[in-house]
Amino acid sequence: MSRRPGNPSRRFGDSSKSRSSPILSVGLIVLGSLFLIAYFYRGSGGLGSHLDSVSRVEGDYLCSGEVQRAIPILQKAYGDSMHKVLHVGPDTCYVVSKLLKEDETEAWGIEPYDIEDADSNCKSLIRRGSVRVADIKFPLPYRPKSFSLVIVSDTLDYLSPRYLNKTLPDLVRVSADGLVIFTGFPTNQKAKVADVSKFGRAAKMRSSSWWVKYFLQTNLEENEAAYKKFEQASTKSSYVPKCQIFHLKSLH
Ligand SMILES: *[C@@H]1O[C@H](CO)[C@@H](O)[C@H](O)[C@H]1NC(C)=O
Repeated sequence: MSRRPGNPSRRFGDSSKSRSSPILSVGLIVLGSLFLIAYFYRGSGGLGSHLDSVSRVEGDYLCSGEVQRAIPILQKAYGDSMHKVLHVGPDTCYVVSKLLKEDETEAWGIEPYDIEDADSNCKSLIRRGSVRVADIKFPLPYRPKSFSLVIVSDTLDYLSPRYLNKTLPDLVRVSADGLVIFTGFPTNQKAKVADVSKFGRAAKMRSSSWWVKYFLQTNLEENEAAYKKFEQASTKSSYVPKCQIFHLKSLH
């Protein structure tokens, strides 16, 4: 940090100011450090996230990539329920494009981050209304059961329990046949900590037991039938996911 000259008009004739300035500088440095510390801990400490103010970098979001890889397996597990899909997560343009290539699949996407470097394909998806940028901390602008299947990736890792409590039931609300959650393994935590300097926040990777307990607490039911079909299809295709995948039931 360089010391900037103060307001020149204040330099003369005010000796009390100049005497207090070293103390002031130290105070400012301490205050600045505190802000920095608060800033770095905010993402991991669960004080809420600032998804909307953060830009994304392609390829950074492991689980959105994993959704693309898992599409054939999801099709085997969900069959007809893949006809109207909403994907929520970073890099949603890629996921939506991939889903739209499948026969009889309609797809929409919600991008929780600003898209600053959208390619032409992504721009056209946004123009057509297939993809929208939305802060998922607010209720989703869809009626109940608007989509047969809702898939969310990466996004939840950045939400504190307070926001999870709002967002997760809302994702369930807009789904008719289920919600599929792709979330990072706690062992991926290390790689993600590097994001803090880049994005000013870190993901919080929770363990499988944390999630299961959380689902129970919030009265969200796991979809065992879908889970079993997904496992079977994974084994058959030698598919090993790089993310944790949970299957939740929609409301009746
Ligand atoms: C989230 O919801 C659960 C279950 O209703 C509750 O036990 C928990 O205290 C809530 N957490 C926060 C941070 O609001």
